[in-house]
Amino acid sequence: MHNEMMRRPVIKPAVLNFLREQTTQLTGPLGELEKKAHQDGVPVIPHETVTFMQTLFNLQKPQTVLEVGTAIGFSASLFATCMGPKGRVTSIDRYPLMLEHAHENIAQLGLEDQITLLAGDAADILPTLTPSYAVIFMDSAKAKYLDFLPDCLRLLADDGVLLIDDVLQGGTVFDDDATIAHKNKAIHRKLNLLLTQVFSDTTLVATLLPLGDGVLMITKK
Ligand SMILES: C[S@@+](CC[C@H](N)C(=O)[O-])C[C@H]1O[C@@H](n2cnc3c(N)ncnc32)[C@H](O)[C@@H]1O
Repeated sequence: MHNEMMRRPVIKPAVLNFLREQTTQLTGPLGELEKKAHQDGVPVIPHETVTFMQTLFNLQKPQTVLEVGTAIGFSASLFATCMGPKGRVTSIDRYPLMLEHAHENIAQLGLEDQITLLAGDAADILPTLTPSYAVIFMDSAKAKYLDFLPDCLRLLADDGVLLIDDVLQGGTVFDDDATIAHKNKAIHRKLNLLLTQVFSDTTLVATLLPLGDGVLMITKK
């Protein structure tokens, strides 16, 4: 599985190279997992997002994280590691094979007590969850972000941070709809609706960070 947008960065190659190669690297088993994910083409968060998350967690000191999109459990393990033993991550994925790998990786990292994996579609699981989470990370099917937004905002603590990954479509998200390939049109339209909705909501304070394929960062006023 590949994330084609990872190869279409929205920033200059030299800057990207610095962010991926010259910033602090992950060490030990988590660093090995990151390397293996990239080698196998598993679409985990890129290294510039890893260092951003480390910085954010260091500042905000969250103890509860909700993630939509576990894949092999890399970002969930990163969050658990950043928070330390008291931190708890709940992560949702609908793809059984991914969850199998996630369970194995999390066990190998000794993080089973900190990470709860929920199997199923986030559309069914999100409405069953109760508030609140200090950090929510949405990293799943992009066409669904808009549908999941109300539940994410309901579940987010008043002083929490909602991060939505991969919203820039390799920088084409603001291109004229007529220029977008048919297979990407629905995602293009839904991401535009998401961005318009978030930035016109007067109850939110948000920004768009050019990390990876773009991270939309949302807080409540
Ligand atoms: C980009 S990967 C997640 C990567 C992971 N957050 C990391 O960085 O290590 C996206 C995952 O979202 C899952 N996914 C997509 N749509 C979903 C949905 N509606 N409900 C639950 N999981 C979903 C996919 O099965 C896939 O494993």
